[in-house]
Amino acid sequence: MEKRKEITKGKAKSVYATDDPSKLVLLFRNDTSAFDGQKIDQLDRKGMVNNRFNAFIMGKLEQAGIPTHQEKLLSDQESLVKRLDMIPVECVVRNISTGSLCRRLGVEEGLNLNPPLFEFFLKNDALHDPMINDYHILSFRWATQEEIDQMKALTFKVNDILSKLFKDAGLLLVDYKLEFGRYNGKIVLGDEFTPDGCRLWDAETRKKMDKDRFRQGLGGVVEAYEEVALRLGVPGIGA
Ligand code: CDP
Repeated sequence: MEKRKEITKGKAKSVYATDDPSKLVLLFRNDTSAFDGQKIDQLDRKGMVNNRFNAFIMGKLEQAGIPTHQEKLLSDQESLVKRLDMIPVECVVRNISTGSLCRRLGVEEGLNLNPPLFEFFLKNDALHDPMINDYHILSFRWATQEEIDQMKALTFKVNDILSKLFKDAGLLLVDYKLEFGRYNGKIVLGDEFTPDGCRLWDAETRKKMDKDRFRQGLGGVVEAYEEVALRLGVPGIGA
């Protein structure tokens, strides 16, 4: 497998073509951004931690029957993935109220949400990822009803699998964002699952162990990601 030219450079990952048109290389950089790219920094080891973390989580999801784009780890900061035809929406599930939900609806932080909430957002930084619903997706032909149903079902199934995985590591999966794409006519999980795109709180102390540490200037960002990885037993992290 040969890595070829860069196709896109996102805020934290770069995507490269390969000599196989059905495969891409993801490079997890140390760049960290928040507030639609307004706050940016470089955090030592973050690319490596997130690449290994993501490969571990994608592996757990595959084992539990979720189709993902992950093929294999290539190096500290690179993974080989399937090339998907990405659907431009973000699927968010929330188990505990915080973040934009509280700002938008004026609800209290830290409420247990039962049943968990599901929200769609349009992936568009310039528009600050506005919230949308199924009808926007259908009217603008971003996805079909069947694809919407599959994205929802898979996102909730991920919630069951990962809430348990994190609970066993003494962590609460507060909320998270997933992105899907099409591969040979099937809906497949793409992008990443790392502490950059979810909220994880220590189950005892409620200490934030995710990108909110960066957003809120709390420090110890990568150290928190590494602690989560250590608790989960992610290979190649820590001692
Ligand atoms: O982060 P913020 O409060 O602006 O947004 P949110 O709607 O409360 O985010 C819900 C979850 O989705 C959090 O775990 C975010 O980290 C994640 N998210 C993301 O990864 N990327 C986005 N563009 C928006 C949210």
